[in-house]
Amino acid sequence: MNASEYMNMNAIIAKKRDGLRLTKKEIEFFIKGYTADEIPDYQASALLMAMYLNGLSDDEIFELTDAMKNSGDIVDLSAINGIKVDKHSTGGVGDKTTLVIAPIVASFGVPIAKMSGRGLGFTGGTVDKMESIPGMRTDLSAEEFIKQVNDIGMAVIGQTAEVAPADKKLYALRDVTGTVGSSGLITSSIMSKKLASGSDAIVLDVKCGDGAFMKTKEEAAALGQMMVNIGRKFGKKMVAVISDMNQPLGNAVGNSIEVKEAIETLKGNGPSDLTELSLTIAGIMIYLGEKADSPVDGRKMAENAIKDGSALAKFAEFVAAQGGNPSVINDMSIFKPAKYRIGITSRTEGYIADLPAKNIGLASQHAGAGRLTKEDEIDMTAGVYLYKKTGDFVQKGALLAEVFSNDKRRAEAAAEEISEVYGSNICGIAENADLSEEKESMGALKENKSSIIKAVIGL
Ligand code: URA
Repeated sequence: MNASEYMNMNAIIAKKRDGLRLTKKEIEFFIKGYTADEIPDYQASALLMAMYLNGLSDDEIFELTDAMKNSGDIVDLSAINGIKVDKHSTGGVGDKTTLVIAPIVASFGVPIAKMSGRGLGFTGGTVDKMESIPGMRTDLSAEEFIKQVNDIGMAVIGQTAEVAPADKKLYALRDVTGTVGSSGLITSSIMSKKLASGSDAIVLDVKCGDGAFMKTKEEAAALGQMMVNIGRKFGKKMVAVISDMNQPLGNAVGNSIEVKEAIETLKGNGPSDLTELSLTIAGIMIYLGEKADSPVDGRKMAENAIKDGSALAKFAEFVAAQGGNPSVINDMSIFKPAKYRIGITSRTEGYIADLPAKNIGLASQHAGAGRLTKEDEIDMTAGVYLYKKTGDFVQKGALLAEVFSNDKRRAEAAAEEISEVYGSNICGIAENADLSEEKESMGALKENKSSIIKAVIGL
């Protein structure tokens, strides 16, 4: 089809520029034409900017989501019995929750047929993390994927089908035209992919804070509500959890280092923020999958699955089914150690006032854990382990963090960055000073920062 035969892109841009609402036909024309390379980037950019500046009505967001969903394959999960429940995080640093949550939920017979992404910029991706387990495959065929979910209750793979190709093109354009941070555009981008991925219920983990698109809890809650509304219009069960991303989730940031932390969490030894977020989301998923009477009951069941070892056993089954070595749950030496390991110690005594997730994510990426270009190979051993987080008190000389990498130069550069992040964020305290006031305010800060869940929408 030649796009210009039916409608005029100039007129559509001008209409949106003037604050008018676009029709279903106009939105479909734009999405079809842009996906088919019939509308040039400069016209698409102008329209995106008009959408960004003037906002989108609920109907426009619905139509945009629908058109983007229909731009590619729709995954058919009907051959899997039961209510398929998916989860999606808007992206963060140290977010390994899928590896903890999926086996917990699947251990109760709620099927998890999940397609995950690779790392992007300073945020990591579940598929890359999984591939740090030697032998683990993330490229199952559609038949293998469905069969595995029917056999063991879960599978996690990279995107195989051409899901929402319109979003892929538009997201790349938004990334370089200052139009990412629009809640209407983010909603249609995320929901088009989720709706095309075939699950019946979706729990969204919308991050807020320094390392997230949405900086405040209020902005994140508004985005969560918008995505819940859109998903429900498409007949899906929807819940959004708003969680903190002012500092990394858990202590490990990287690939194999995050898988190790996920395994420890499944054994009940995980960091409190990661454990809390995983149990909350898992509880909601078990409830939406109709295996618990309430999210609270679901959460109790999730806790039990960790206590009695059934979640860990499901994780081992999942690793084995996808070609990895299941002994990894008891033998971490299966992960190759990094050649270089650099400790960062505190130059002063004080409290950690802040630990910006973005800077830690960037340092981990520079150590080799993430890609700078799409073609880059990831160093699975690379990353950062944080021994001290926001609100913690540290003595002079205390170990704050360690950096891992197979490349000495990269390890040193990342260690320098991490040292700067901590250096500029420790409140130094004079010797013999009265600490009571600082202790009080830092106690409050830690309390506030450690409440990882900020809100739940849709229950
Ligand atoms: N994640 C997405 O997939 N799309 C957005 O627009 C933002 C975050």
